[in-house]
Amino acid sequence: MHLPEQMLPLPLLAVLTGPSTTAFIRLGAMDNPVPARSSSGASQTPGPAAVLPTRLGADPAGGYGWVSIVLHWATVAVLLPLWFVGYATSHPGSESVLKLIHTHTTIAVCAYALLWLRVLWRFRQGHPAPLPRQRAWSVRFGKTLHYLLLIAIAVMLISGPLMAWTGGDAIHVFSAAIPSPLPKLPQLSTWLLAVHRTTSRIIMLAILVHVCAVLKHVAFNHDGILGRMLIAARRTTGR
Ligand code: HEM
Ligand code: HEM
Repeated sequence: MHLPEQMLPLPLLAVLTGPSTTAFIRLGAMDNPVPARSSSGASQTPGPAAVLPTRLGADPAGGYGWVSIVLHWATVAVLLPLWFVGYATSHPGSESVLKLIHTHTTIAVCAYALLWLRVLWRFRQGHPAPLPRQRAWSVRFGKTLHYLLLIAIAVMLISGPLMAWTGGDAIHVFSAAIPSPLPKLPQLSTWLLAVHRTTSRIIMLAILVHVCAVLKHVAFNHDGILGRMLIAARRTTGR
């Protein structure tokens, strides 16, 4: 019996290591051969070119692939602690601020590559076709919110380290420290803190709207939107 490749959980590392690495890079250099929004997708037989990106975990025709799903939920698992520990640095209670900042930067540095990969992956893959009966405004709204979240994550990943370094601080990761390669620029650091802080509020607001939108789909639309972020789509469910 032939199992569709998309049904196999594909560990992220397998995509990035060994012989897959070169193929992954080649994938990044070409367009996804499966059309993103073809209404006649079901009647098209994917040629050999369509097989390569599917094997590598690219999103199949009907929804998200395993790589997208793992990246989505891994980001949820990392981003929320990162956000709350970050927030606690300015509302420390009985905790030492320095300890909280070190915890925050340790999580941030450990997840740094994962978060960048997650952002770039979505921009590379685009979105799957809308669900049947999904309204145009809802599709547009969803995509805009997703891209806003991704851009906001990128802003956090850039502003965080630059803020610390231009403030003259090393970035602490467990008991190690990454010294600043930049000169001390206190004014720039203060501005970057404002950017980091404001963007973090935008992220939290966008997450709340995002989760409410998903709950609305689950409660009222019954269109399987949550399901497609839990189980990888099979290629045969056409766009
Ligand atoms: C998506 C990733 C990130 C999120 C969601 C996040 C979130 C936050 C939040 C909510 C704060 C508190 C802001 C405030 O109200 O004062 C904060 C502070 C901070 N973040 Fe991040 N952050 C992220 C990435 C990073 C990275 C990559 C670094 C550096 C490696 C970093 C370094 C810091 C530092 C040093 C502070 C303390 C600033 C201060 O008060 O002096 N962050 N972060
Ligand atoms: C418990 C919380 C969450 C639930 C239940 C949830 C659920 C979902 C679902 C069902 C989709 C698919 C939407 C569609 O097909 O149109 C989706 C996509 C997406 N979600 Fe979430 N989500 C959660 C948290 C987050 C968080 C914290 C982020 C922040 C980065 C996020 C960012 C995204 C993005 C960017 C997409 C577009 C697809 C992708 O790039 O993965 N989600 N989410």
